[in-house]
Amino acid sequence: MDDSVTAAWLTKAVVDSAGAARDGRTRALFTKLIEHLHAFVREVELTPQEWMSAIEFLTATGKKCDDFRQEFILLSDTTGISMLVDALASGRASGSTESTVLGPFFTLDAHDVAAGGTIAKEGSGYPLFVSGHVRDTLGRPIANAPIDVWETDGTGTYDVQYADRLGPDCRGRLRTDAQGAFRFRGVLPVSYSIPSDGPVGAMLSALGRHSMRPAHVHFKIEPDGYVPLTTAIYVKGDPYLEADAVFSVKPSLVSDYRRHEGAGEAAERGCSVPFYTLERDFVLAPVSVPA
Ligand SMILES: [Fe+2]
Repeated sequence: MDDSVTAAWLTKAVVDSAGAARDGRTRALFTKLIEHLHAFVREVELTPQEWMSAIEFLTATGKKCDDFRQEFILLSDTTGISMLVDALASGRASGSTESTVLGPFFTLDAHDVAAGGTIAKEGSGYPLFVSGHVRDTLGRPIANAPIDVWETDGTGTYDVQYADRLGPDCRGRLRTDAQGAFRFRGVLPVSYSIPSDGPVGAMLSALGRHSMRPAHVHFKIEPDGYVPLTTAIYVKGDPYLEADAVFSVKPSLVSDYRRHEGAGEAAERGCSVPFYTLERDFVLAPVSVPA
């Protein structure tokens, strides 16, 4: 038996080993994964040392994860897998606002924030007032829709990146009113580097890649009866819009964050001067269109 026959036999033997899998989708995913991985190993003639390096890299990626650090999402994002999965899924929500990556910084401990309230501690950055509506694809308001928002502070740092984090900052959980409207105060987001002190940072360095992302505010909107939307609104004019380390910018998600100097309009919004405003609506597709 020559090597090529051995390799072909091995791939078939592993695929056949899942023949008794109860779930057909599980069997199909396993089969394709093995076929592609085995083909990759054969094509690049992977050496034992390279395979052990890959195992050590994935081990280090897992060890870097905890409740507030998600190195595997970072790996998924920086290799374009997150956006590829998003691209395939977005076709299922025709007519809705475009989606983008969740990223590694979403947490479940955000506080509820009243309409017009703040998600950011005093002094976290330039004040930002965000307002908009959530509507369905026919333009009807979606009332009482839960909206999670999260962003960096004015230094480009998420709260979970501070070793002395006491609780959520620059993140909050809102609800739309009866007209589908929402508003909150935060801070002007800035471009930032994804965490580069772990295995994913080492990978980017080895590839000669930078780790910067354009400034944005994340939104996750999930009312019952609608296709959930995870997206982000990027700052028009940001130098990294065309060179995002995680490939997640879509032109429709870039908006004006307008600067204001007027003390009166700042006071109306509970902001100090100078401050910024973002007006942005979101459209969600119903899970099924009523007859
Ligand atoms: Fe982000």
